Amino acid sequence: MFDSGVGGLTVLRAIHERLPSESTVYLGDTARVPYGPKSPETVLRYAREASRFLVAQDVKAIVVACNTATAHARRVLSEEIDVPVIGVVDPGAQAAVAATKTGMIGVIGTRGTIESGTYERAILRVRRDAEVFSVACPLFVSLAEEGWVDGPIAQLTAQEYLTPLIEKEIDTLLLGCTHYPLLAPLIGRVAGLGVTLVDSASATAAETGSQLDRAGLNSTATSPPERRYFVTDDEARFTELAEGFLGAPARVVDRAVLDDESSD
Ligand code: DGL
Repeated sequence: MFDSGVGGLTVLRAIHERLPSESTVYLGDTARVPYGPKSPETVLRYAREASRFLVAQDVKAIVVACNTATAHARRVLSEEIDVPVIGVVDPGAQAAVAATKTGMIGVIGTRGTIESGTYERAILRVRRDAEVFSVACPLFVSLAEEGWVDGPIAQLTAQEYLTPLIEKEIDTLLLGCTHYPLLAPLIGRVAGLGVTLVDSASATAAETGSQLDRAGLNSTATSPPERRYFVTDDEARFTELAEGFLGAPARVVDRAVLDDESSD
């Protein structure tokens, strides 16, 4: 699995819960986070480099935990890589459609994810008459990393971002960014009781399980699973933040050096 940094650990957490006997290799591209404001071409290049690193670790499937990287790169990676490549957008969109009663769905994510329109298209593929309202909430990433997930600054920021969606009378809000589950209690309070929050993590874990089943790739190992973590910068900061996102400490954290694709 790879992500731009620490946020994808929310998806890894769901995978550990759902598929406890699978070994996992997590790569956080902490040297180049955030991906959210970067161009699609740059994110695609980063995603290719991350995938190449994971393939070299002999993984049997790749989960693109980052919503922005899924939006800009998942399709291309699937065509280029021989192992299944699972993104977070389609599972999240399906979960949102399953949750909505009125078909009025809000989506929040990074600027890159929202401007790509990927979630909107994915939702409309599943439910053609859905109405999708999207808002980029870039400051939520910093708030989650600072641990400011409650209190007046987070509250005001959430009100500012979410008011336009609440005014549209959405009944479902899709958290289309790895960091937002940490702010879910606050987002839920601001959005109000009539709005169901959906995040992609558990839906992605379920989809990963189904893809492994279909491909006959489930773990048959009798030894305990391995859990390895790689980052491209600052192992100490990653380790410090990891527990809040993963719900457990990230123990084996090593430095990854990615091949620079632009030099090919
Ligand atoms: N992981 C990113 C995502 O889910 C959020 C952080 C970033 O901008 O890199 O879109």
